[in-house]
Amino acid sequence: MKLFNVYPINNITITRARGSRVWDDAGLEYLDMYGGHAVISIGHQHPHWVKRITEQLDKIAFYSNSIRIPIQEELANKLGEVSGKPQYELFLCNSGAEANENALKLASFHTGRKKVIAFKKSFHGRTSLAVAATDNPSIVAPVNATDNIIFLPWNDAEAIRSTFAQQGNEIAAVIIEGIQGVGGINVAQNEILQLLRSMCDQYGSLLIADSVQCGYGRSGKFFSHDHSGIDADIYSMAKGMGNGFPIGGIMIAPTIPARHFMLGTTFGGNHLACAAGLAVLEVMQNENLMQHADTIGKFLMNELRAIPEIDHVRGMGLMIGFDVPEQLKDLKKNLLSTHKIFTGEAKPNVIRLLPSLALTQEDAAHFIDSLKQAIVDHP
Ligand SMILES: Cc1ncc(COP(=O)(O)O)c(C=O)c1O
Repeated sequence: MKLFNVYPINNITITRARGSRVWDDAGLEYLDMYGGHAVISIGHQHPHWVKRITEQLDKIAFYSNSIRIPIQEELANKLGEVSGKPQYELFLCNSGAEANENALKLASFHTGRKKVIAFKKSFHGRTSLAVAATDNPSIVAPVNATDNIIFLPWNDAEAIRSTFAQQGNEIAAVIIEGIQGVGGINVAQNEILQLLRSMCDQYGSLLIADSVQCGYGRSGKFFSHDHSGIDADIYSMAKGMGNGFPIGGIMIAPTIPARHFMLGTTFGGNHLACAAGLAVLEVMQNENLMQHADTIGKFLMNELRAIPEIDHVRGMGLMIGFDVPEQLKDLKKNLLSTHKIFTGEAKPNVIRLLPSLALTQEDAAHFIDSLKQAIVDHP
């Protein structure tokens, strides 16, 4: 059987990984400034993560959510502590799309409403409601199309005010990434997040902070939305949560009551995933990775801003983007082929940096030196 050909892939086979380094099947070493798409939070194969998962595997890997699973409670408590939001409640699932799907569904259950405000260039996942709220018609199947989603321009206070003034009583939720990832690293202004908070309060709508990519410490605070000083009603999380082990979840404000069977999943919250999730939070805490992401992110952004050939350096912590001008269009490709550095991209011309939060100062400096060299050598 062949694989269904949906991914344009690099012809590289990674067989080993450690920290921010990976090796291919020929033994060549690469620096991972992409983190497997913002997934590697504490570093590839962190020994504590391996130990936690291995120990759990020896005991029990899975049982259904019909029984008590104490490690879920342990994870919820640790997440409350590390995120600084112990009063929230946790529902566990398996991916970012699923997290947003549940967040949107929960908002609709809670408010009894159907309409959702989302933003231009947003990406929320590929399941039916998440993809409907994603601003990319090419991945929305006809069956997913709905007129319940209202797309507003990014960072546009007037559009938000007038939409609420006209339809506020029908809005179940606003869903917003604190920093758009797939859309090209676009940071939501603090005033916009604060305005959304007050509009949602005024009209009884819920604010969903899609933190799948920008959350989990990547921005230097636990949720990038925290930089604006607001609390969302629901936070969706996934990528960095398991450091590569599939796990997602939503954190739900205590004002939203649960009722049996309103949400559910077979695999979500399984013992192994919780072990991985706990290991991530323990390492984040023990190694002070949020602070570290902030420090290394500032170093990278300062260095990048000093490179005249690239434009519009933006981001927070270790979620950074910059524009590559047309004359350097092969920069990303050359970084990989010549300098053995993985980076991310956003169409049409953005390089995205999404490394592990444990990226060392030496690796960050090596990236900057290599980037400068790749610019000089660019044909
Ligand atoms: C902001 C955001 N939300 C949701 C998702 C979907 O996550 P997943 O691919 O785990 O379903 C992504 C994935 O890139 C994302 O960046």
